Amino acid sequence: MKPETLAAQALHAIDDTTGAIVPPVHFATTFARDASYGLRGPMYSRDENPTPVLAEKLLAALEGGAGALVFSSGMAAVAAAFRALLSPGAHVIGPACGYFALRAWMARFCAQWQVQLDMVDTSDLDALSRALRPGVTRLVWIESPANPTWELTDLAAASERAHAAGALVIVDATAATPVHTRALDHGVDIVMHSATKYLGGHSDVLAGALVTRTLDDAWADIARVRHDEGPVLGPMEAYLLIRGMRTLFARVERSSKTALSLAERLATLPGVSVRYPGLPSHPQHAIARRQMERGFGSMLSIQTGGGAETAIGVMKRLRVWMPATSLGGVESLAEHRFTLEGPVTPTPPDLIRLSVGLEHEDDLFEDLRQALAAR
Ligand SMILES: Cc1ncc(COP(=O)(O)O)c(C=O)c1O
Repeated sequence: MKPETLAAQALHAIDDTTGAIVPPVHFATTFARDASYGLRGPMYSRDENPTPVLAEKLLAALEGGAGALVFSSGMAAVAAAFRALLSPGAHVIGPACGYFALRAWMARFCAQWQVQLDMVDTSDLDALSRALRPGVTRLVWIESPANPTWELTDLAAASERAHAAGALVIVDATAATPVHTRALDHGVDIVMHSATKYLGGHSDVLAGALVTRTLDDAWADIARVRHDEGPVLGPMEAYLLIRGMRTLFARVERSSKTALSLAERLATLPGVSVRYPGLPSHPQHAIARRQMERGFGSMLSIQTGGGAETAIGVMKRLRVWMPATSLGGVESLAEHRFTLEGPVTPTPPDLIRLSVGLEHEDDLFEDLRQALAAR
């Protein structure tokens, strides 16, 4: 069946006992054994709970993966993978472009655990090849499109080079979502999502996920870390995540259509430059056309010119876009990333990140137009 069908019906979930077409939320942390003291199903919710398990099955189906694990946040998913896969002395390649807090955490983790870390712009395949150490590099971490500057990595080519060197590839595909890119089909080993964003889709649940191509030893190690250390997703959050995923395709197809049109209209405004994978001016537009389907995502960034003060001035004049961090919800958000990331960041000071939601395109454009016109 097509992914839209699987998502809309949450895998045709019909409750066995009542026939309910909305999956029940199992709040129990523990499950009674049967008369012969055997397990009827799950034993304990740090190990397995039917509500997050349904979220995992649905996400695995949408990504075409062999299995999925959900976590209490995107960062908890990243941390579990690092804890499971890397030991002192290992070499890892991290993303030079990408979510700032994740890259900062990665640097701290690797320093503390004596893991050798090289931050590489993986959109540059030659740079990736130079950084790979055959037989030594354990993991290549890619973020594509990379937040908040939206560089794309050619996932098939990067995976081929990483695999030839004996490394595993994990891609943070939060901004792409399985609607635009099924990363496992492009050769990566594991997909990571901040499910807080598009998968949840309503800015009301914090969640993370990993999806694997094969049920191998690396995957078993990650599952063991989650089981042992407990960064699991609670049943209520898992329910909200399932509910969000049921409308994923409708939401993302609509918001990415609006994003493309906004990117085109914003690019006509004087003194404004736009970063969006769907524009021919984007440096990896050709890769985007090959690697993304049903649109180019709902995230874009603009540069206002004039530095941080000018960009913050624009932020203060916005009336429709909400001035908040995060992304992927039904309401459009704008953020001055430089304020958050500070002077050490590679993010340009005049950049405003835009997460396009489900409002009318004209309202979103007009708000930005008036805010930019007063620069
Ligand atoms: C691309 C990306 N990866 C990972 C994360 C971290 O996810 P979470 O906030 O769910 O821990 C974020 C959060 O903003 C993100 O944008």
